[in-house]
Amino acid sequence: MGMSVGNVARKTAVVAALALGLTGIGSKAQAAPGEAKIGFALSMTGAAAAYGETQKNGALLAIDEINARAGKNGIRIVPVFEDDASQPQQGVNVFNRLIFADKVVMIIGPTLSNTAQVADRIAQKAGVPVVGISNTARGITDIGDYIFRDSLTEMQVIPDTIRVVEKKTGMKKVALLYGNDDAFTKSGYDVFKKALEDSHIKILTEQSFSKGDRDFSAQLTEIRALKPDALVVSALVEEGSGIVSQARRLGIGTNVPIIGGNGFNSPSLIKNSGKASENVFVGAAWNESSSNPLNVDFVKAYTAKFGSAPDQFAAQAYAAVHIAVDALKRAGSTDNRKALRDALTRVQGLDTVLGKFSFTKGRDADCTPVVEMVMGGKFMVLSE
Ligand code: ALA
Repeated sequence: MGMSVGNVARKTAVVAALALGLTGIGSKAQAAPGEAKIGFALSMTGAAAAYGETQKNGALLAIDEINARAGKNGIRIVPVFEDDASQPQQGVNVFNRLIFADKVVMIIGPTLSNTAQVADRIAQKAGVPVVGISNTARGITDIGDYIFRDSLTEMQVIPDTIRVVEKKTGMKKVALLYGNDDAFTKSGYDVFKKALEDSHIKILTEQSFSKGDRDFSAQLTEIRALKPDALVVSALVEEGSGIVSQARRLGIGTNVPIIGGNGFNSPSLIKNSGKASENVFVGAAWNESSSNPLNVDFVKAYTAKFGSAPDQFAAQAYAAVHIAVDALKRAGSTDNRKALRDALTRVQGLDTVLGKFSFTKGRDADCTPVVEMVMGGKFMVLSE
């Protein structure tokens, strides 16, 4: 039997650490006084690049603001951006570099749960705090007490999405389509299945696909023949966009709702699949139209700087940098990883663009989700 992805990654982590000549792991990061060196592991290339790009923008905006306001005695952030290439293996390499060569005080990222489930183990072992900004699969923060996230999990969002869509559309029977080789898409599938069963919505068929698939016509043709009231999909945006476009082309018309998980929550879904994305529903941890004054300022500043509106991925990255600075201030140090971890556990009711934000006891995000629907080429928040 071949080695699992997790085993391969763990083995490579050890080899890379040895190659870097690492003996003994200290809890001290390396930076000038008042400067916090923060590592960012983001998917700038590969299948998740659509998320990584806006995450980097969100982080850059927050860093600019914080550094501009730092003055003489405030905390300045020195970012180290790395591309995890949407690959667990590259995530492992990047974590090793950030922790042992750059000696960052913490890591923000990686973009995908599939990468986090192996790379976060390296940070946990080395005692380096991680704040995930888009990992929504189950179990990521269970890796250990240095692992946090400001992204709501599929479990925190999907049951409500199903409830709201059922109320709006009266759906009674659906088809389920999911990626069977990715930590996030598999986790989303488990949660969708349970939420549908709990709501007594019949699952007519379960179909799956693999990473990198481009042609979903076999699965969609079977699904169409069963005439579902809705199509439920657990996919990242690259495959998700193809599924939405091909479903409509194959006759699953825009009158049939398509319900996605966190992976669908990107403007690139709408950009890639155009009119086919009408009547797509997603749960979200953030929405552009929120009247929260911090959010209004964020949307304005981001749009001015980058020429397009932010998305949820940008907002969660932006929020994470502010959460990090809040904790760094309370840690009383910019280079003590243990003190920073302890301070992160005490983030409570912090005003952020995600609303009032706290970490739960399990280091997951505690903020309020919404349900959105694509209407007229835009994500619109549904009120009940
Ligand atoms: N929410 C997606 C994941 O966890 C991006 O992988």
